[in-house]
Amino acid sequence: MGQYEKHVFVCTSGEDCPTRGDVEAIVKYLRGEGVKAGMKESLRVNKAGCFSQCGHGPMLVVYPENVWYAGVKESDLPEIFESHIKNGKPVQRLVYDPGVKGANKTPDAH
Ligand code: FES
Repeated sequence: MGQYEKHVFVCTSGEDCPTRGDVEAIVKYLRGEGVKAGMKESLRVNKAGCFSQCGHGPMLVVYPENVWYAGVKESDLPEIFESHIKNGKPVQRLVYDPGVKGANKTPDAH
């Protein structure tokens, strides 16, 4: 067992994801909700570099489930937080599952 029950990484410093949405706002929202939900000790939200999924952003990953979300909109965040981060149930309709392992950049990615 690691130091946190839930560890979220948001791609904020890749070349592409920050061009596709307000990635800093995603971090801020999830951190804020974590504090409000009393998860200060159990949730860590880290800013991260590129996941080599450029073109599919904004991207975030939730561990320990290793569930990835792509094209995350701010309007998706309440559901991702409530259902998955707080209650452990991934939001299947938003899960990123491209069917290929490893790097998966789109041709138009930066
Ligand atoms: S810039 Fe976010 S996955 Fe590459």
